[in-house]
Amino acid sequence: MNIKEKIKFFNYLAEDFDSRDYPPIMLWKSIQRQRIEEGWKQRVKEISSGEADAPGLYIHIPYCQTKCFFCQFKVLAGTDPEMHSRYLECLKNEMKRMSPLVKKLSFKTFYLAGGTPTIFSAEQLEDLFNTAEKRFNLSQTVQRLIEATPATLSLKKLRVLKKYGFNRITIGVEVIDKKMLHAINRQHQTEKMVKDSFEQARQAGIEFINTDLIAGLPGQSIDSFLYGVRFILKMRPDAIHIFTYREEELVIFCRIGKRITDKDRLRKEKMLALAEKMIRKAGYGFGSNEPYLLTPDAANFQLQYRYQYNVTLLGLGALALSFIPNHHVYHNAQIEDYLKFWPEDKATPFFTGYPISRAETRLNYVLNNIRNGLDKEQFFRLYGVQFDKTYQKEIEDLKRINRIKNDSEKVKLITKNDFEFRSYSKFFFGSRVIKELQAKIKIKPSEI
Ligand SMILES: C[S@@+](CC[C@H](N)C(=O)[O-])C[C@H]1O[C@@H](n2cnc3c(N)ncnc32)[C@H](O)[C@@H]1O
Ligand code: SF4
Repeated sequence: MNIKEKIKFFNYLAEDFDSRDYPPIMLWKSIQRQRIEEGWKQRVKEISSGEADAPGLYIHIPYCQTKCFFCQFKVLAGTDPEMHSRYLECLKNEMKRMSPLVKKLSFKTFYLAGGTPTIFSAEQLEDLFNTAEKRFNLSQTVQRLIEATPATLSLKKLRVLKKYGFNRITIGVEVIDKKMLHAINRQHQTEKMVKDSFEQARQAGIEFINTDLIAGLPGQSIDSFLYGVRFILKMRPDAIHIFTYREEELVIFCRIGKRITDKDRLRKEKMLALAEKMIRKAGYGFGSNEPYLLTPDAANFQLQYRYQYNVTLLGLGALALSFIPNHHVYHNAQIEDYLKFWPEDKATPFFTGYPISRAETRLNYVLNNIRNGLDKEQFFRLYGVQFDKTYQKEIEDLKRINRIKNDSEKVKLITKNDFEFRSYSKFFFGSRVIKELQAKIKIKPSEI
């Protein structure tokens, strides 16, 4: 393909949000358990010999009280403890099965997300953490973190978190304004609950509190959004994440035809700019992947290590993502399959993923970092090759269309928005993946 054809093809692929991931999810196939187990054996050797960093442990809990209408994730809504207990049993079985494979590893981070992991009762959480500590070596973790919502927190649960060493919690607030809470199907959340959850998290002694807000929802006014930002700033969280609403396949707003308008888009730009000013003025800065932190220690280390050092990740639970560098990237089973198979502990081929070679592992690192500026020295330290030599052709192509800023220390893609990033970053994709994408899509670039 020449450059023009590449741009056409990449723009076409970039329409699909998932195409941002490498290797693109569109190409993922089911993988036999045996292959995954081989991958872990090989990785354990690499880590034990000091060739690679200590891994992270991730647990996915895809349950929530209600499904928020803007949410892009696959979650099951409901508060029935029986339903959660069943999932917990499956998780415990999975831990039992996976632990012998990784028993030599000491995990550096432990992260629970979803969904809303704190939907589990205090006793269920305790049971889960207890089993995790028994099955895996978590004695050297530098950070243990968990995602929560105000409505699912209590002092009792927060004390359990503290007891098991959790030092960072995300209190997902999303919006504060009552009318908006109704519009997104989160009517059970109140301002008092938000305040209480911050106070109780501090009372329990959780060191770092992060909070999530969302901007750009259909019909969300600037005032409504900024009301939320002001409210949150008063709580003085250690980290603030502002997500910008994206219309995705699993979003209920999209399914019921409630789409964002041009007015919403314009308002979103304004609200983001105004919020940025307020938050920076309040003293937040630091991270590159997480722009609003009070101190660098408030960052999510599992994500940071993943982006900065391409670390290994073991994911447990339905839909959890795992990353075995130089081997495979894969997702665990869909929720329904996970619930079906784990109780009986059957060795079913329910992973979905893609093999990833050494060169592609390195490429994954490039794609994770080139948006904010990839540090060339760090790249050399990790992979023992010069960036400019390794990606000479890609740099030349991107230079010809003025899409790369490349100096002696850093290299950065020049893109205006997420769509452009998804498109131009594909100049780095390897020929195997490009060929497979072409075959899958069955359209010649000239026909797009
Ligand atoms: C996995 S959710 C979990 C957090 C927690 N359950 C909560 O509600 O805060 C993580 C973040 O994804 C963001 N998110 C969900 N759907 C989104 C969408 N359609 N566009 C952009 N961000 C989204 C939300 O803002 C949320 O804070
Ligand atoms: S935003 Fe959070 S609480 Fe709402 S459905 Fe998604 S994961 Fe669940």
